[in-house]
Amino acid sequence: MKAVSRLASEWTGSAWQTESTLHQLAPYIGKTKSSMAAALVEEYSTPDSVVYDPFAGCGTFALEAWRAGREVIANDVSPYAQLLTRSKLFPYASEDAALADLARMTDKVNGRRRMPDLRKAPKWVRAFFHPETLREALLWTEVLKAERRWFLLACLMGILHHQRPGFLSFPSSHTVPYLRIKKFPRSRFPKLYAYRAVADRLEAKVRRAFRRMPKLDFTLSRRCFGTRAEVQQFSAPVQSILTSPPYMRQLDYGRDNRLRLWFLGFGDWKSLDSVVSPREKEFLALMGRCLRRWKRLLAVNGYCVLVIGDTCSREGRSNLPNVVAGMATKAGYVLVSQHADAIPNERRVRRGISGSSSETILVLRNSALRRLQPK
Ligand SMILES: C[S@@+](CC[C@H](N)C(=O)[O-])C[C@H]1O[C@@H](n2cnc3c(N)ncnc32)[C@H](O)[C@@H]1O
Repeated sequence: MKAVSRLASEWTGSAWQTESTLHQLAPYIGKTKSSMAAALVEEYSTPDSVVYDPFAGCGTFALEAWRAGREVIANDVSPYAQLLTRSKLFPYASEDAALADLARMTDKVNGRRRMPDLRKAPKWVRAFFHPETLREALLWTEVLKAERRWFLLACLMGILHHQRPGFLSFPSSHTVPYLRIKKFPRSRFPKLYAYRAVADRLEAKVRRAFRRMPKLDFTLSRRCFGTRAEVQQFSAPVQSILTSPPYMRQLDYGRDNRLRLWFLGFGDWKSLDSVVSPREKEFLALMGRCLRRWKRLLAVNGYCVLVIGDTCSREGRSNLPNVVAGMATKAGYVLVSQHADAIPNERRVRRGISGSSSETILVLRNSALRRLQPK
C-alpha cells in the first residue's frame, strides 16, 4: 500500500485536458479533483467491490469508481448534486444515442403549445436572461423533467450561466451565479445581452460531454440516493467509503448553486444550506454521527477515506482534520495515514482571502478489534 504522500504525485497538475469530459458536465463548488479521486479509488478499493460516497457532490468519486470497475453507491441531499451524479452514473451509451434522443426532445419542445409564464420567475432569475432565452430555457427544463431526461437536463444546467457564446445567460461567472454587468456593460457589449437560442447550444454541450468518454461497464451496479448521510443504511456492507464531507460553511452549496436549483424546482436554497453547509458545531456533530453509522455500513477492515478542507476548529482548538481523526479513532477506526495537500488557486472558489487553501486526506480503517463504544 502506497502512503498518501507518495500517491499525491499522481494528481499534481491540472486534470482538465485529460479527465473524462463527463466530469465537466456542469460546475460544482468544492468538486474533488478527478485525478485525486482516481488515485484514491485505485489504492483504497478493489475491483468488483462496492464503493460508497455519502457526500457525492457532482459525483467525482462515483464516476471514477465506476470507471475503475467498482460497483457504486452515491448519495447527496442537494437536488443539483443528485442530478449531476445520476447523469454521470447513467449516461447514454454513445454520442449518437444522446443526439438521437436530443432530437426527440427537440420535437417535444417544438410541439408544446403553452409557453412558460415569465412572471412566475423571480426578478433575480429574470435579471440573468434575455426574456426569450429564459422562456426557451424554462420550456426545455419542463420537457426534460417531464420526460426524466436527467443527462440532458444536466447538460442544460451546464450551459445555464457564463459569459461565453455557448452559454445562455447575460455575462455571469460560471461556477457561482454572479452577473458581471460592471465588467461587461450593456452599452459596450450589446451582443452579450442578445437572445441566445437554447437548442444549438444544448447540442454543442452534449457533443462536448462525449469528447473524452471513458470505457464504462454498463452491467455494473450503480445506485444514487438523496438521503441525509448520517441516517443512511444498506442491507449489505460496502467495502470502501471514499468521500469529501461539506467544507464547514466555507462553501455554501445551496447559495452558490441557487440559479440551477431554482430551475430544478428548488427555490429555497437557504433552508438547503442550513443542512448542506453546516457550521462548525453542526459539522462536528454530523461527522460524529456519520463515523458511528459507517462503522456498521463498512465491511471489517474496509477503508474510509475522507478528504477534508483544512481550517482551524475553535471547538477542538486544533486543525479540523486532526479533530475528525481524533473522533474516528475514538469511534473505533484505525488512522492509517493523514496527508495535507495544497488546493491550487484555480480550484478555489473563494480565492486568496478565505476558505481552505489545503485539504487533508484521512485514511481510516474499520478495525475489527476496537468495538464501537456505546454512546
Ligand atoms: C465537498 S462536497 C462533495 C464534493 C464531491 N466530492 C465532488 O467532487 O463534487 C460535500 C457535499 O456534501 C453534501 N452534503 C452536505 N451535508 C450532507 C448530508 N447531511 N447528507 C448528504 N449530503 C450532504 C453537499 O450537498 C455537498 O455536495
